[in-house]
Amino acid sequence: MITVYVPGDAVAVACGADEVVAALLATGIELTIIRNGSRGMHWLEPLVEVTTSEGRIGYGPVSAGDVAGLVAAGLFEGGEHPLRIGRPEQHPFIASQQRMTFARCGIVDPASMDDYIAHGGGFGLERARALEPTQRIDLVKASGLRGRGGAGFPTGIKWDTVALADSPRKYIVCNADEGDSGTFADRMIMEGDPFELVEGMIIAALCVGADYGYVYIRSEYPHAIRAMEIAIEGARRRGWLGSEFDMEVRVGAGAYVCGEETALLESIEGKRGQVRAKPPLPAHKGLFGMPTVINNVLSLTAVPHIFADGPEVYAAVGLGRSRGTMPVQLAGNCRHPGLYETPFGITLGELVNDIGGGTASGRPVYAVQVGGPLGAYFPPKLFDTPFDYEAFTKAGGLIGHGGITVFDDTVDMAGMARFAFEFCAAESCGKCTPCRIGATRGVETMDKIIAGDRPEANLELIADLAETMKFGSLCALGGFTPYPVMSAITHFPEHFNRRALALAAE
Ligand SMILES: Cc1cc2nc3c(=O)[nH]c(=O)nc-3n(C[C@H](O)[C@H](O)[C@H](O)COP(=O)(O)O)c2cc1C
Ligand code: SF4
Repeated sequence: MITVYVPGDAVAVACGADEVVAALLATGIELTIIRNGSRGMHWLEPLVEVTTSEGRIGYGPVSAGDVAGLVAAGLFEGGEHPLRIGRPEQHPFIASQQRMTFARCGIVDPASMDDYIAHGGGFGLERARALEPTQRIDLVKASGLRGRGGAGFPTGIKWDTVALADSPRKYIVCNADEGDSGTFADRMIMEGDPFELVEGMIIAALCVGADYGYVYIRSEYPHAIRAMEIAIEGARRRGWLGSEFDMEVRVGAGAYVCGEETALLESIEGKRGQVRAKPPLPAHKGLFGMPTVINNVLSLTAVPHIFADGPEVYAAVGLGRSRGTMPVQLAGNCRHPGLYETPFGITLGELVNDIGGGTASGRPVYAVQVGGPLGAYFPPKLFDTPFDYEAFTKAGGLIGHGGITVFDDTVDMAGMARFAFEFCAAESCGKCTPCRIGATRGVETMDKIIAGDRPEANLELIADLAETMKFGSLCALGGFTPYPVMSAITHFPEHFNRRALALAAE
């Protein structure tokens, strides 16, 4: 039987993967078609792979119209064709990565627990079960794992707080809201290797003594929701879930603020997604008032590897206090967009130019925004900044969830600064004044600057407003909006003064 892999990942589907499957079936040839996850080379999607005597051979990007020609060229034997890329794992984009979290993504059948186990899944859980509860958390601490949702808080310390809390019930909540622009790592791993998240959550539950878990996924991620539901059911059938610990998927409506951990908890509780004041921390009083671990998908999916390989393997890579690997997401006007998992320490320039290949438009890279809509804009002169939480903070930015959005020299940076305020105004939960009112005043003031109305005085006003929002907001939505605004003004000042821009254009 011929086995063909056609990703069921949302990016591949958006690029026509379902039509490719239909065209393959229409050939009448007997095939086993596996809907795998994406390898993360998005410019090659749909990346079709066939199992041959040489290993899996990839072709991409394949459209339904290419199928007849591919079959005629000997697709099922790995035949030569202009779309043939050879063995995907030997492609420089993949071969230069150090994949831990994404090691199985794009390789395994995400619906098959047998395949997961055949590729090393479950070993971390086995090791965790063999340890005492305190040894388990010590192991997470020793790995140096920091939360990948944005704040980079040490995961072991968070888990310790929940473990030490005295309560009849504790919860594990996975934050899969992934609202940041230009990010897709959570979605990709849930679609490509969902059992890894299930395993990570079970290990978290063992560590802190929780008996129930939720994966909170936005409704815009229907493929991830389906993949997680299939995996949870599979894990239940296998006896991994159901007795000591069980879990379910909760679908969010897709409000950016519902990614903020306390708003997310409100949403799971069936209330409007509004931020809670801290303290109490969710680790003390979280979901339904009980001690709750809330972690990003990438934090939880790193955990099975940390247990399986040992914390020292994880801690051995990275830079400074940023240990392990980061699944970096390259997006926007990028020639080679996709998922690139690499140890911390790689520079921004290497990621954008060497890995991402610069812009898709072929024009010069002018700016990149790192860390989603609340992240700073970096000019090429800062491209020597290493990917590291502390280095980014020092450079006036943040890593956030590891998304990099590339812009060429046609970008309007004043428009981008205005957009940051507009985004904040639209997504604000309305609980605190600096964000609720400040964002709207920010849009109005930016409009004046763009119209050339007293730019110097209005820029001073923006700087003042940014200070108020940064230090007066209850959560990072209002508190971090100044990052994109002020970085755009600092690094691209000519965009905020129409006269200077006109002179520069002459
Ligand atoms: C407005 C806002 C949106 C956020 N969105 C997300 C998100 O989509 N996913 C996520 O994991 N964390 C998000 N966070 C961070 C969470 O509040 C929280 O820090 C995180 O889930 C903790 O998990 P970690 O320690 O594994 O990073 C957001 C924070 C803010 C202020
Ligand atoms: S900063 Fe904005 S989103 Fe956060 S609590 Fe205040 S109003 Fe709500």
